[in-house]
Amino acid sequence: MTVRTSEATSQFPSYAARAGKVISLADRINGCFLRSMNGKALPVDSADMKAMVAYFNWMEKGCHLNDKIPGRGTGKIDNTFKPNLTHGKDIYAAQCASCHGANGEGTKRADSSYIYPPLWGNQSFNIGAGMARLYTAAAFVKNNMPIGAQNRFPLAQGGLSDQDAVDVAGYFTTQWRSDFPAKIHDWPNGGKPKDARY
Ligand code: HEC
Repeated sequence: MTVRTSEATSQFPSYAARAGKVISLADRINGCFLRSMNGKALPVDSADMKAMVAYFNWMEKGCHLNDKIPGRGTGKIDNTFKPNLTHGKDIYAAQCASCHGANGEGTKRADSSYIYPPLWGNQSFNIGAGMARLYTAAAFVKNNMPIGAQNRFPLAQGGLSDQDAVDVAGYFTTQWRSDFPAKIHDWPNGGKPKDARY
């Protein structure tokens, strides 16, 4: 899920090309549950959904629709790079597998909750998630992964070149993950990005 800035509330309701209509913040959050978490949507009027929307509202801090908000989304990547999956597999083994598992299965705590999320398989985000797209994933990885690799605030994250980020994203996004049958309704008015997985 890439809506992780405090100012998300000010950006909704707004038109979403993937949905082909104006969506609310609750719709956007449910998109994360359905796609990024490969789970179920919450009723819009449930206490849990209301609590999350209230939390985003509380963090809004005077931002307005169409404001350019630092930190929103995944950051930039040069999408003219083509992935080299063999090299991506090597990067994965050397720099990612220690946390995300040799087979993308993630790492669990003793109580079997995840400390490091799985990157493929049926516990990972499904093909309808933004993270299943090559350049979205590569941009996320370039700016946020691997954690603990260098000197950058706050998590010592980042450090891969654009090409390396595209290679490793090419590798893990093309591993097996769950389908998202409702994907047939996506981008009803066109505008599908070229790296969508379907
Ligand atoms: C020190 C442990 C660590 C290492 C090494 C690491 N990650 Fe992560 N990774 C994490 C954690 C923790 C999260 C969850 C972050 C969050 O939820 O904000 C994460 C999240 C992710 C996600 C998002 C998963 C999702 O479900 O949305 C991707 C993709 C990812 N990492 C890719 C990589 C890649 C590729 C590498 C190697 C270049 C890497 N990571 C190395 C700890 C690590």
